[in-house]
Amino acid sequence: MFTIDTAVSAAYVVAALLFILALAGLSKHETARAGNTFGMLGMAVALGATLVMAFDGGVDTTATVLLVVVVLIGAAIGLWRARAVEMTGMPELIALLHSFVGLAAVLVGWNRFFQVEDNPDGAYARRLDAMDLLGIHAAEVTISVFIGAVTLTGSIVAFLKLSGRMKSSPLMLPGKNYLNIGALVVFIALTAWFVAAPSIWLLIVVTLVALALGWHLVASIGGGDMPVVVSMLNSYSGWAAAALGFLLLNDLLIIVGALVGSSGAYLSYIMCKGMNRSFISVIAGGFGMEAPTGDDTDYGEHREITAADVSELLKNASSVIITPGYGMAVAQAQYPVAELTRLLRDRGVEVRFGIHPVAGRLPGHMNVLLAEAKVPYDIVLEMDEINDDFADTSVVLVIGANDTVNPAASEDPSSPIAGMPVLHVWEAENVIVFKRSMAAGYAGVQNPLFFRENTQMLFGDAKERVEDIIKAL
Ligand code: TAP
Repeated sequence: MFTIDTAVSAAYVVAALLFILALAGLSKHETARAGNTFGMLGMAVALGATLVMAFDGGVDTTATVLLVVVVLIGAAIGLWRARAVEMTGMPELIALLHSFVGLAAVLVGWNRFFQVEDNPDGAYARRLDAMDLLGIHAAEVTISVFIGAVTLTGSIVAFLKLSGRMKSSPLMLPGKNYLNIGALVVFIALTAWFVAAPSIWLLIVVTLVALALGWHLVASIGGGDMPVVVSMLNSYSGWAAAALGFLLLNDLLIIVGALVGSSGAYLSYIMCKGMNRSFISVIAGGFGMEAPTGDDTDYGEHREITAADVSELLKNASSVIITPGYGMAVAQAQYPVAELTRLLRDRGVEVRFGIHPVAGRLPGHMNVLLAEAKVPYDIVLEMDEINDDFADTSVVLVIGANDTVNPAASEDPSSPIAGMPVLHVWEAENVIVFKRSMAAGYAGVQNPLFFRENTQMLFGDAKERVEDIIKAL
């Protein structure tokens, strides 16, 4: 027989399928737009079905007004932020959004505690008792609060680090690994205790331990590994949503949470492999990573060059590789860079781009900027495709990149970014580095490239300097 319940269940299956199509679509450039549309449709179906279910028992005016007001406020803030955010600010916005999922899991966990464990004579508690599910419910409450609180503070620290409001270097508390493991053991013990004898005090301690653990886990991870942390928090937020699904008896939340949780974990794994990092050590808050030794090495003096001299070098070059980084995005230099590329190619110079997988601040950042400026796809190459060609290149233009071209990563085992694959720009005949000062990059590490014999610095805003070169050409 057709009931509201069966209609809602059917809508949830449709929404779940749309979310799976969204993930599949997002895995390729060509289908990403369709993937986004599937995701939006899925969310609309899910919201609609949830509303129908919420009002199944009759329409309550106060609840309706509250719901509409809250949805409108949320939608307005979402629209405003999505329109205002710069592409370079996306990772921190995403980190902040993850913290909301964490907060929701904590609040719902607490709400369920007051409904069931704190109110054993209430209707809901009696229903669970009749099905012998009180113990499982208690465990769900602590697990949901725990995952939610870890995600909440972890995401806040990620937001603070990514937006430069907190130092990006890793926090190295003595015995930090024991602190993390200790927090986990305390949580398991408290959960067992809470299941046996629920009390508000136990839940308060679980919440505090989890808040501290989330903070410590992410604070212990250095700036260079933050991309992995963001995708790891994405995964945590998925598990927090799945935990919510169990508490709210909502199948769609369980499915969507599991999809987000597992795809986030898989993305973190791929990024770890790409950056030669141990997956376990990153998800365990830098477990097993050594404290970086301070770099007091005297690399000597750097040399400077003018835009006019760079244009002379380029005129006589046979091949040029451009390696863009975060600074190109900040300066919005992609348009003059595209113009320079066109001018050089017209003169018969071979120009190609070398893109590091974590250049900029989000996966694919440089590819999107270059596509925006209409740089042809076929001259934009991934790191692995171009790394062997630097040795035969006349000039490399490092435009606002720093960590991704740091030779210390492959040559200095004590460097905090040791082992991370980098673009071998220093093997070229001439390297020109565009940046505003001698300041370090995102990971806060000194870059010996700037002091090499074949490197010259072109100081100033990347966009202005590239325009100067175009004028001189
Ligand atoms: P970074 O190491 O961040 O260095 C960027 C450089 O650009 C800085 O040294 C800065 O030097 C320069 N710069 C800034 N504004 C500029 C401007 N207007 N004109 C000219 N130069 C400017 O860049 P990268 O090589 O792209 O490396 C990315 C880093 O971010 C990695 O450590 C990566 O792990 C991390 N990260 C990546 C992601 C993803 S997924 N891509 C996400 C989060 C973090 P001055 O200040 O001296 O100008």
